[in-house]
Amino acid sequence: MRITTKLTLIISVLLIALFVALGWNSYRYEQQLILEQAVDKARIIARQIIETRDYLSRSEQGASHNNFALVPQVAATKIATRITEGSPYYIRQISLRNRNPENRPDAYEMAELQKMALSPTPQEHTRVTAENGDEQLRYLLPMRADQSCLNCHGSFSEAPRFVQERFPYGHSSYNYRAGELIGAISVSVPMREVYRSIDNNLLQELAVESVILLLLLALTGLVIHRAILRPVSNVAKGIEEVASTGNFSQRIEQPGDDEIGHLVESFNELMAELERRTRQKAESDERYRNFIEIAQSPIVTFLPDGKIVIANQKAEKLFGLTKEELLGQNICDFMATPDPLKAGICDYFEAGSSSLIGTTSRQTVRDVCGRLFDVEMVISVSQSDRDAMFTAILRTTSK
Ligand code: HEC
Repeated sequence: MRITTKLTLIISVLLIALFVALGWNSYRYEQQLILEQAVDKARIIARQIIETRDYLSRSEQGASHNNFALVPQVAATKIATRITEGSPYYIRQISLRNRNPENRPDAYEMAELQKMALSPTPQEHTRVTAENGDEQLRYLLPMRADQSCLNCHGSFSEAPRFVQERFPYGHSSYNYRAGELIGAISVSVPMREVYRSIDNNLLQELAVESVILLLLLALTGLVIHRAILRPVSNVAKGIEEVASTGNFSQRIEQPGDDEIGHLVESFNELMAELERRTRQKAESDERYRNFIEIAQSPIVTFLPDGKIVIANQKAEKLFGLTKEELLGQNICDFMATPDPLKAGICDYFEAGSSSLIGTTSRQTVRDVCGRLFDVEMVISVSQSDRDAMFTAILRTTSK
């Protein structure tokens, strides 16, 4: 896998994990916030009912006798229902000792009311309930009877006639005492309605976050590419080029003073050193060529396989070929009996020494026209870092 791919993968995974974590966190936070808002709303609705009812209770002055719609509880419920019309909020006034069967508490309300009745100071109560997988936010605000309520909820004998007529003597909705829990406002709203807005918000937020994520990814990709990958690949390219062309004059521009800068610096130093060495070698080769050129004897330098790589003017004359023609030919082709030479080279490689090398031997060589000459031959070896090279110095004894 390429470094770019690896780095991109690692950074993408990290960034995506970060964004998922942040997204989840903000989702939870928003959920919390929206729930609090829903509770606030339920509380306001409930308070509004209580205020309406209290106001009417204190000021109806028997009006509900002629108009049942003005009974504080009835009017307050009507008003609240009209206010919440079209919203998902559902409002009821409930009592354990209800007059109107519609105000009978459901199982949840019943349990909570019973608990509240036991408390000397009942408080509002909020809970998210789940019935058949349907989540509901339930809010209950307890109501306690005050003096004005006792007009109709006190003793039967003191209740207005219209109340007495509807709710006969012995009905459980009488005989409250001031301060006693008389019922509660119950507000409920489906959670899916509460969360509807959050889903839209979340989608929007996700869209924005994804764009930011992509931008961040692109930016980090760019920065990494600029700061690390490009310089590294420049160094790699430089090395490849040197390897394929053998041209050590190559230098790479130093990108900075960081680790990669140092790498490039080392590379350039290495190139400078190699360039110096090759130049030295070329110079010494050149000196050697000049030296053998002026020698009085034919000199031929050849590789272990016999291939001639250097020959001087006297050698040209001896073999009857120009230097260009000689180079690349095999020395053995010019020997009348090449086997001793071949054996001598073999010995040198196998045993590390050979009787042929360093000593003068008599050989017969052949020129391009097939004429034979007796020569005395001395062979020396020069072992360079790569190959061994053999140099034969010949001295003609007959012509
Ligand atoms: C003028 C008489 C009157 C007064 C004053 C009055 N109520 Fe009621 N109340 C009623 C009647 C009648 C009902 C039944 C309404 C219906 O049929 O929906 C009722 C119903 C209720 C209910 C609903 C439960 C049920 O029994 O159906 C609650 C709770 C309640 N009253 C609390 C109060 C409180 C608290 C006060 C004082 C702040 C108060 N009422 C003052 C006459 C009155």
